Amino acid sequence: MTAPAFEFATAGRIMVGAGRAAELPGVLAGLGTRVLVCTGADPARHAGLLPGVALPAAVFAVTGEPTVDLARTGVCAAREHGADVIAAVGGGSVIDTAKAVAILLGNGGDPLDYLEVVGSGRKITRPAVPCVAVPTTAGTGAEVTANAVLASPAHGIKASLRSPLMIPRVALVDPELTVSCPPAVTAASGMDALTQCLEPYVSPRATPLTDGLAREGLRRAAAGLRAAFADGGDLTARADMAVCSLLGGMSLANAKLGAVHGLAGVIGGAAAVPHGVACAALLAPVVEANVRALRSAQAGHAALDRYADAAQVLTGNTSAAVEDGLAWIRETVALLGIPRLGTFKISPQDAGDIAAKAARSSSMQGSPVALGEDDLRAVLLQAI
Ligand SMILES: NC(=O)c1ccc[n+]([C@@H]2O[C@H](COP(=O)([O-])OP(=O)(O)OC[C@H]3O[C@@H](n4cnc5c(N)ncnc54)[C@H](O)[C@@H]3O)[C@@H](O)[C@H]2O)c1
Repeated sequence: MTAPAFEFATAGRIMVGAGRAAELPGVLAGLGTRVLVCTGADPARHAGLLPGVALPAAVFAVTGEPTVDLARTGVCAAREHGADVIAAVGGGSVIDTAKAVAILLGNGGDPLDYLEVVGSGRKITRPAVPCVAVPTTAGTGAEVTANAVLASPAHGIKASLRSPLMIPRVALVDPELTVSCPPAVTAASGMDALTQCLEPYVSPRATPLTDGLAREGLRRAAAGLRAAFADGGDLTARADMAVCSLLGGMSLANAKLGAVHGLAGVIGGAAAVPHGVACAALLAPVVEANVRALRSAQAGHAALDRYADAAQVLTGNTSAAVEDGLAWIRETVALLGIPRLGTFKISPQDAGDIAAKAARSSSMQGSPVALGEDDLRAVLLQAI
């Protein structure tokens, strides 16, 4: 499983710690002269961070998961302001928007020139303008990943702009910023973070570096996910989940993801399902399908050992088997009150179409075993 040759890319500077968001103005001052600050739907939520910013700043509010059009609007806002540095203070939606704007400013052109799967997929060759990512959810790890996910409503799918040049210059991770997340956001984004540690951990593209990061991320999820949901003010749990998310981002950017994300990308383009909810609903059915396929393809496949090890980390039981890990995931999803996909107007009739699109998705390169369209459809029917 462990590749003999590998490389690893991440943000140039990673700053972690409670209260460290206060360092944002100083970080920005070293990177540019005019800043576009991308924030979430409620710019007032973290407005306290902005008065210290000495650079002329314009605020760009991101009101939902980003689309191709939103990225275009963001580029216009950045050009109008003359921004030469971009800051993102928000969840994955805000960070992805900022990363898309930063790379488009650096390269010119339209998002569809570069978008994977439904766009021209043109190679990104020039650096992004510097981007500082400050996550306010603990889920996507987008502060250290090399892609930005954009929905293309015209194609009914989410796809990525992707290049190592898109990794933010600075990731500033302050768990205190996640304390205001309501339980549903904590639950969904936390399940995304957990998934983004587990999929790279069983990936054929795992490396010695991602192994350590992903396994520690799983340990942090085991310690923090249920606790952060039960008590949003528990700063230890919030810190565990912020680090879990960061480690998941570092892992996925270097070891890829599997079928959960292949399916979640298509589902997120087809219906208004929050990304983390899709991951949570799909995780147990995908693990079960992978394990079944791995066992019938090759007894003793290395990924089966990884699943067993992950089960031990998640349950805290050193003799846990894969099935115990699956039970822990199912119990966690139930405890967190994650809705099924059927709640979002996805019906069993949609499963075939989603499975066909997911089978062609670029987000599955880290799957430990190839799942066919029939397997993916069966997974979906469980999650719906
Ligand atoms: N680039 C990547 O590597 C990557 C990886 C995974 C997911 N994603 C993308 O990230 C997006 C999802 O990001 P997300 O899960 O962080 O959710 P999000 O950014 O969409 O935010 C979810 C909700 O939480 C609110 N929120 C955010 N921070 C808050 C806070 N501190 N307090 C209260 N409310 C807060 C937002 O306003 C929003 O309503 C999707 O578009 C997904 O495709 C990207």
